[in-house]
Amino acid sequence: MRLIAPSVLSADFGHLAQDLEMINRSEADWLHVDVMDGTFVPNISFGFPLMEPMRKYCTKPLDVHLMIVHPEKYVERFCDAGAWSVGFHLEAVDDPLPILDLIKAKGVRTCLTINPDIDVKRLVPYLDKVDMVLLMSVFAGFGGQKFIPETMDKIRFIKSEIAQRGLKTLIEIDGGVNTENARDLFEAGADVLVAGSAVFGAKDPEEAIKRMKA
Ligand code: DX5
Ligand code: ZN
Repeated sequence: MRLIAPSVLSADFGHLAQDLEMINRSEADWLHVDVMDGTFVPNISFGFPLMEPMRKYCTKPLDVHLMIVHPEKYVERFCDAGAWSVGFHLEAVDDPLPILDLIKAKGVRTCLTINPDIDVKRLVPYLDKVDMVLLMSVFAGFGGQKFIPETMDKIRFIKSEIAQRGLKTLIEIDGGVNTENARDLFEAGADVLVAGSAVFGAKDPEEAIKRMKA
């Protein structure tokens, strides 16, 4: 699969509806929604109050990426707020399984995420228990960072683990994705590419999305 999920973190929040209309017109597949709590990551983005307008104005599925401690307290509220998928960080919890169950009970797709300093092998036991794994290709917390090249080998590794088990688990990549590296990422086995600054910072965001998909 070759999906593009622009990250709303890089949108113009003063003109959010306009930016979402652009996403609706574009070839983007999902809208990636970055929620940061100032504790799991050294930055605070936004929370529930923005889920409502995003659901209202955006026709694409909302792919929620929680960068928060205690995701077990909030995953259900994000499901109720209209998330199409909800992901949280493996390294933020002791046991992800009961939290995945909370999301599944809401009929929402699940995603487990790891930062670049977490061993990708730690995802393997969960490959058959999630819809998607998200490999961060920058440290979670800020848009506009440089892609970490070591991510490539991690994609190939996790892709082969998924294939060996005959699973359909998707691989999402988040951080430093742009029109230059999108092709290599898809060829290495990525299914979904998140792109913030490379979309909303582009002269022609719709064209940037199209080029990443091509
Ligand atoms: C970073 C977020 C990313 C971010 C990507 O913590 O998870 O989704 O918005 O931004 P770019 O594409 O600019 O690296
Ligand atoms: Zn993200």
